[in-house]
Amino acid sequence: MKKTNPTPIDMPEEITDSTDARIQGTCTWISPSNIALVKYWGKKHEQLPCNPSISFTLNHAHTRTQLSWELLTTPRREHVAFEFTFHGQRKPEFEQRIQRYLDRMSSEIPELSNYQLHIDSENTFPHSSGIASSASAMSALSAALVDMDHQIRGLEPIHPDLSADTAQWISSLSRLGSGSACRSIFPHAALWGQTSFPDSSDLYAIGLEHILHPHFYHFHDAILLVDQGQKAVSSSAGHELMENNPYATIRYDEARSNIEKLLDILRTGALEEFVLLTEAEALSLHALMMASSPGYILMHPNTIEIIHRIREFRTSSGLPVCFTLDAGPNAHLLYPEFARKKVLEFIQAELVPLCNEGRWIDDHMGPGIQKINQ
Ligand code: PMV
Repeated sequence: MKKTNPTPIDMPEEITDSTDARIQGTCTWISPSNIALVKYWGKKHEQLPCNPSISFTLNHAHTRTQLSWELLTTPRREHVAFEFTFHGQRKPEFEQRIQRYLDRMSSEIPELSNYQLHIDSENTFPHSSGIASSASAMSALSAALVDMDHQIRGLEPIHPDLSADTAQWISSLSRLGSGSACRSIFPHAALWGQTSFPDSSDLYAIGLEHILHPHFYHFHDAILLVDQGQKAVSSSAGHELMENNPYATIRYDEARSNIEKLLDILRTGALEEFVLLTEAEALSLHALMMASSPGYILMHPNTIEIIHRIREFRTSSGLPVCFTLDAGPNAHLLYPEFARKKVLEFIQAELVPLCNEGRWIDDHMGPGIQKINQ
């Protein structure tokens, strides 16, 4: 598939109808977080991955973003003019990153700097839950910007059933905001990075829903909140540490080989192999952080206890459950639908006491990015 970079059109000399989306308009998008199975860790150039990655798209953990725009009466500005509110409140700490992203977007959407934007975002998961929200936030904002671009160019607003080209365009803009965000667009599962898989690319992710064996339909993710504070290392700093990591080359080869294995597993429904590969990937990510300079230990004592309990439960129940980890202390317990009843009992009895304030998020695979009708 080829990237369709929309060509700008000139503003009509006079637009007087204030209901015209070229003067003002609004749109709302929801985008979920995603959990990587084969991890993206290490980047180059403009947010391109050093290795391909595969993730499950989540459902309940999502960001809802409303974007409103108004044509400026003054000429084009150097920086894109915007106001940002989070749950209705100004958040100056997020403004610098959004400004950088919008300024970058103005070379993709040239008319952007002719508008005053208002962006209001909400997360369904608590802001301080330790869950990386950049994937959901950046993909929701990118979808809204692409929708705005359609409308200010006098085209039809984007249809909620995204065309393949539009999904690809949103994914590549999301990638520029936060690498992993490019995977959140697609239902159930996504692959980002150049591989032998048809149409895969470093520039955007592609959906994998069509290859999934029924064992992987409606997979669950119990997000176990071990620490709800800020991450010890931001993912940007973590990616940068890979530049001098002595194991970087071995890691990128390992990830490439794991991608090929995981694609087979997802097709054939080999749950035992899924469990082994997913846990090995999570531990590799943390081993890389330990081997960085400076080295980081991102797991907490309860993270390690949760890992042991999950492995013991797997042995005693015979169920194909496994853990994965982000670049932080929270653990994700992944399991198929048919194991749900027993897994919920296990979580309540053994894992909830290990979570901070007993908090966890009962999530599962979801449909990807969604447009909200206004
Ligand atoms: O998208 P970033 O820059 O926040 O990096 C994400 C890194 C991991 O979450 C650790 C792995 C991944 O592939 O999502």
